[in-house]
Amino acid sequence: MRISIIAGNWKMYKTEEEAFLLASDLKRRLNDVAGVKVIICPPFTGLSSVKKAIENSPILLGAQNMHWEEKGAYTGEISSPMLLTAGCKYVIIGHSERRNLFFETDDAVNLKIKSALKFNLSPIICLGEKLDQREANKTEEVVENQLRRAFKDLSVQEAEKTVIAYEPVWAIGTGKTATPQQANEAHLFIRELLSSEFSRECAEKINILYGGSVKPENSRELLKMSEIDGALVGGASLDAESFEKIVRSAT
Ligand code: PGA
Repeated sequence: MRISIIAGNWKMYKTEEEAFLLASDLKRRLNDVAGVKVIICPPFTGLSSVKKAIENSPILLGAQNMHWEEKGAYTGEISSPMLLTAGCKYVIIGHSERRNLFFETDDAVNLKIKSALKFNLSPIICLGEKLDQREANKTEEVVENQLRRAFKDLSVQEAEKTVIAYEPVWAIGTGKTATPQQANEAHLFIRELLSSEFSRECAEKINILYGGSVKPENSRELLKMSEIDGALVGGASLDAESFEKIVRSAT
């Protein structure tokens, strides 16, 4: 049985103090929550204040990106050991905003995943097609390519420690959500791919989250689908009440 995961991707929102306040509010609201894993991913500058705010709560800390090298002359970058010692358990890798706005390649995604795993961080690996690709019936081809390249040279044991987020790019921040059926179909396709790349047992262990305009109004319908094991939430994770409702809809 996979335990649902609800992860909040705060993107480039919240100063250190604002991050502390939001995380403290979430701790108050979610302290009793059970049967679902809650992760929040503030910007790097919020990691330390959020870590303090969520101490002794079930909420886990994640980051939004990292470099694959452990250290070195890489101005502006952050490494896995840095995230680990900052208290992170998870790191989002290959978000479509990183791929599209910052030209992150599938090779870079693969290197980042390997580095995260080496330091015991669970990567939340984002995959998803753009609107023109869906309209040209290329969703499966795009997702398959991204998945094969992201997971290149990973062992079954490593693959089992990952989380996948299927995020159709046309649904991110647009208010357009994939229907529960569309999302479930894509998740099923991803699970079959994992099964053929690794093993059925391994594929059954990996949480596949849906992301793209998840809100309290649509989360329950999405989360009740058989292959949807949680959600990666952007906009609605910046509001404590909305995020709490989404988390509770997963229980
Ligand atoms: P959204 O973002 O919920 O604002 O659409 C999701 C994401 O980018 O992970």
